[in-house]
This record gives sequence, C-alpha cells and structure tokens, in this order.
Amino acid sequence: MIYLSTPIYYPNDRPHIGTAYTTLVADAVARYWRLVGEEVYAVTGVDEYGLKIARAAEGHGMSPQQWVDHIVGRFHETWTMLDMSFDDFIRTTEERHRNTVQTLLQRMYDAGDVYLSHYEGPYCVGCEAYYTADQLVDGKCPVHGRPVEVHSEDNWFFRWSRYGDRLLEHIAAHPEFVTPGSRRNEVVGFIEQGLEDISMSRSSLTWGIPLPWDESQVAYVWFDALINYVSAAGFSDDPDRFANQWPAWAHLVGKDILRFHAVLWPAMLMSAGLALPRQIAVHGWLLVGGEKMSKSNASQILPSDLVPTFGSDGYRYHFLRDVSFGPDGNFSWEGMVERYNADLANDLGNLANRVLNLAVIYRSGRVPAVSNHTAPEESVLVAAAAEARDALSGFGEFRTKQALDGVWRLFAAANAFVEATAPWHLAKNPETAGRLDQVLNAALEALRVGAVLVSPVMPSAASRLWAMLGLPGGPGDGPLASTGVFGTFPAVTVTKGDPLFPRIEVP
Ligand code: MSP
Repeated sequence: MIYLSTPIYYPNDRPHIGTAYTTLVADAVARYWRLVGEEVYAVTGVDEYGLKIARAAEGHGMSPQQWVDHIVGRFHETWTMLDMSFDDFIRTTEERHRNTVQTLLQRMYDAGDVYLSHYEGPYCVGCEAYYTADQLVDGKCPVHGRPVEVHSEDNWFFRWSRYGDRLLEHIAAHPEFVTPGSRRNEVVGFIEQGLEDISMSRSSLTWGIPLPWDESQVAYVWFDALINYVSAAGFSDDPDRFANQWPAWAHLVGKDILRFHAVLWPAMLMSAGLALPRQIAVHGWLLVGGEKMSKSNASQILPSDLVPTFGSDGYRYHFLRDVSFGPDGNFSWEGMVERYNADLANDLGNLANRVLNLAVIYRSGRVPAVSNHTAPEESVLVAAAAEARDALSGFGEFRTKQALDGVWRLFAAANAFVEATAPWHLAKNPETAGRLDQVLNAALEALRVGAVLVSPVMPSAASRLWAMLGLPGGPGDGPLASTGVFGTFPAVTVTKGDPLFPRIEVP
C-alpha cells in the first residue's frame, strides 16, 4: 500500500508554481505506482486554521470560515487544470480532522507529555512558528526575510525534549527516514543540539481546534496540521482503511518545513502511540530570478500563467524533467520554451507524427502484427525500451529528472531507428514490403511503450497518443511489467490526429 501525501497548503492565496511543484511530484509518483499495479492513496489538502489565515480573512473582510470556503475552490481549479489525480483532499476544518486532532492530543496529554507554561518570543506569522533570537537573520525571519512579532502567552507545552534520543535511534536504524542524506544530516544535527519543549496551543486565537482538556485554548496550527496525515488515512472515520494505509509510505515536503515533519511529527506520533511514516522526502525551492516566490514579491508565477501556452502536459513535463527533487531549481520562461520545443515538439511530437503518417500513407493505418523484431536495428530499439522502463523506476525514489532522461533515450533511439530503416525507401520496392511491415510495426510499438512510460508525467498527451494508435483502454492501465514491455504492435487501425505538441514560436 502506497499512502503518500503533500503538505497541506495555507489557503491564504492561490497556489503558485512553487506550491504546485510538491503537488505535481506527488501526483506523478502516485501515477507511477498505480501504473506498476500498487494500491495507492494520494492525499493533498489545505491547512485552514491559524493566525495567518485569520489575518488573510480579515484582510478580505470575511470571517475565516467564509474565506477558506471561498478560496478552496482555487486549489481544486488549479489541481484539475494540472491533471492531478489525488484520492483525497483534506480540509482541516472537516469533522474527521477535528476528531482525530482531539483524540491524538488527548493521548499525548494522557502520556504525561503536556504541561502549562508561559512563552514569550519572536514569532513569524508567515511560518506560523516561534524562533529563538539566534535563529533570526538580522532580526528577521530566516525563511521569509520579514520582521517578526513578539508573542507572549500562557500556553500548553509539549515535552519535545523527551524524544531526542528516540528520534536519533529511529533515524540511525532507518536511514531512509529522511531523504536526501544532506537533509538527514541537518535533522540529526538539529536534534543533537538538544530539543526544547514547544508550545502547542494558543490562548489569544479562536480560529483553531479547541484542546479537549482546556477549551479556552486552540491547538497551535502545526499541531493540528501535521495530524492531517492521520485524519486523511481514516483514523477517526474509517479504522479499517487506517489499518491498511498507515504508516504512510512518504510525506513530500519542501525544505522550509523539514523540522516540523522530521523532528516534531515523529515525536508527536511516538507520544500518541502511532507508527512513524516510512519516509520524509524533502525538496528544495523553486526560484524565480534566484529568489523564492512569495506573495509579497512580484515574481509570483501561477500555473494559469503557463498552462495556456504549454498545456498541462508541457507544464508537468518541464517541472519534472528540469527540476531535480532535492536541490533548489530555477524557473525561466526561456528554459521552459526550449525544453518544450526540443523534447516535446521535436523528439516525441515529430516521432509520433512521422510514424503515424507513414502507417497511414503506406498501410492505410493498418500495419500487420508481425512479431519478428530481431533485425539489428530493432534489437537496439528493444534494448532502449527495456532501459527506459528500468529508468522509470526512478519515480519510486523521486528521481523524476533521471527517470525522464532514461525515457527520452527511447525516443532518441526510435527517431534514429526511423532514419536508419528509411521506410520511405522500403515503400518504393515491392520486394521489401515485408520489411516495411516489420519496421512500421516496431516503430508503432515504440510509440505504444513510450505512451505507457510517459503516462505518469503527461496523462493527457499519453491518452491522446494512445487514441491515435487505436489501442483499447488507456496507457496508464498497467501493470507496467506487461504493458511496458516491447512486444508486437497489434493489428489495430491507427490514425493521424492533430499534432501532440504544436511548436511554440519564439517571437
Ligand atoms: N501549511 C504548511 C504545511 C503544513 S503540512 C502539515 C505550509 N504551507 S505552505 O502553503 O506555506 O507551503 C506548502 C509547501 O509548499 C511547502 O512544502 C513549501 O516548501 C512549498 N513551497 C512553497 N513555496 C515554494 C517554492 N517557491 N518552491 C517550492 N516549494 C515551495 O507550509
């Protein structure tokens, strides 16, 4: 069972290409596992409580509930526009989540891990987090670079300090718990400095989930938000599903929320007596002009700025192919156009166009199902298809760039195959009619395997190609172990439709 999650996003604004990045990787990985034949439950959602949302609502003259009900539609619209295929979308204002939060926090309280104390310190509303004075950079938030506020409250505290040793033991025994390794080292270093107890409630705010033992306080938004992963797995409303889905296979997160996920969340789970997720998979930021996008700088780019030009497929391909999961990545319009024209319009689009065209011209779209793919030219193609399928397994480790590099070697091999076998020459001579059938069959089979392999990344284009190939079902039906193997293209009727990826002309 593959249960995987994205962070739940703050609905203080519409999703931009940075927040869409985590969601996209999660979706492509979920589609990959479905293609393999695994049972998958992929979850995303929104983090609706807390000061940041309360202030966003105020800024728009709405109550927090009105605001989140209004803005949540933007998330659904964006994810639909980008062909996301999540199994669940959780909102923290849902009852299933409230029940789960109250039960888990009560368990932590009953475990003796909660006490009342006073806290005063610098707070960043953007992060919804307290900082110590030495964590600030020039007196400002290290993540947002904005001034912090000083908050002072009587709060309930979680005995985080109790869990340092157990966390270190867990990480030592399960090195895959935090990936990549550089992030694991960062986490270990942070824990080794010693964990301090952390405030887990707010008395000054009402927009949150009340603590079951003290209804005058609401849960601090991170203590509520992290628990969403357990709520969505069915903890309070579907115990059978929960037993099947938990612990999670992976939580995907950006580097700015690493500590919450890799240090706080496992300590909360230990305290509440639940199993820890298998992995926290951490990626960098998407930068525009070298800077992190935020609401407050003009560099914010929305998916809707790009999809009309590149389509959802061109959008998905670019971010999965050009941004490595791990380090920071830079976005540029020029880079995206270049990638689209080279890989999609040329390598794949022209290949499909050319091969379908040849099949339509020379065989009226119906190429015999010859199974003899043993000529030297075909052997190269068959080997390239096998390597491409192996490369696709990179998705299981979030290596989207490397996986797509491998898949693209199949298209390079298929283009070289068409050039080397020159079907247009074979068609001139009646004696080579049998060879023409073999060559066309192999080229169509390469397209069929290619459609299967790109289906997690470009579900819409893969389906269009599948339809032009005249094949039944869909390219993502799987299981990959059979549909991804180079065999014989069946005797179906192929057609030549509109170009898959019309070239983008640069003025
Ligand atoms: N609500 C919290 C998460 C709670 S999860 C229990 C939150 N929300 S967020 O909307 O601010 O950010 C969500 C995710 O988007 C984070 O993983 C963050 O790293 C990611 N990104 C936000 N801006 C980003 C970029 N510019 N680039 C890549 N990812 C970025 O934090």
